[in-house]
Amino acid sequence: MVETPEIVTKDLIKVYRAGKSEVIALRGLDMQVGDGELVALQGPSGCGKTTLLNLIGGIDRPTAGSVVVDGTNVADMSDADLVSYRRDRVGFVFQFFNLVPTLSAEENIELPMRLAGKPSELREKRTRGLLQLVGLEKRAVHRPDELSGGEQQRVAIAVALANDPPIVLADEPTGELDTKTGEEILALFRRLNGELRKTVLVVTHDARVAGIAHRVLQIQDGKIVGEAARN
Ligand SMILES: Nc1ncnc2c1ncn2[C@@H]1O[C@H](COP(=O)(O)OP(=O)(O)OP(=O)(O)O)[C@@H](O)[C@H]1O
Ligand SMILES: [Mg+2]
Repeated sequence: MVETPEIVTKDLIKVYRAGKSEVIALRGLDMQVGDGELVALQGPSGCGKTTLLNLIGGIDRPTAGSVVVDGTNVADMSDADLVSYRRDRVGFVFQFFNLVPTLSAEENIELPMRLAGKPSELREKRTRGLLQLVGLEKRAVHRPDELSGGEQQRVAIAVALANDPPIVLADEPTGELDTKTGEEILALFRRLNGELRKTVLVVTHDARVAGIAHRVLQIQDGKIVGEAARN
């Protein structure tokens, strides 16, 4: 059992409707992630992993059921509350980096802080600190197309951390990277969890991610079907 749950989903259901067709992506999914845990999510393509992250991250709303984060049901939040929830409480890391192509590394990292109305001095200081954390001080003024895949993913991680959210959600963060680069990114996730005390939920097919996780949850057909403790 999780001692202090930070994320609790209960009977979570998500049905996508397009015209007359209906896809049941989540069918009553229950799970918990504890404060400070690093949990991996695995399961076959189409089983609902991305859907689950989107609901936890407030990118989409459930059809039924609850997503309680730190005692608040995200499913009940107003649109305005969801905007600040997404901005301040969760950081997202995607498979394809998701950087703004026209902005430099440092401008990408600053952007979430600008949107949150942080003063420029704080933004600059924090951007420098984050560039250092991800080992990219020397790439600050480069645009994404001037960076390698691994470097872009490091910038993306810094972007996710910009407003210092307690939770980091990652969807196949090593999916596009070669073995060695993938390992470096994983080492970074481990530091986020170990040193910065971020709660990390990472979707992955990568067996090495499971190796750094405290627990591995198996999803199948929109439900949790198994759990293995690791570290
Ligand atoms: N916007 C959408 N509209 C309609 N159906 C969707 C939508 N998004 C996802 N689905 C469907 O919901 C199911 C779950 O999708 P989801 O993207 O969560 O799977 P996944 O586990 O992340 O798969 P993968 O490993 O391939 O990324 C799939 O059947 C998918 O086709
Ligand atoms: Mg997916």
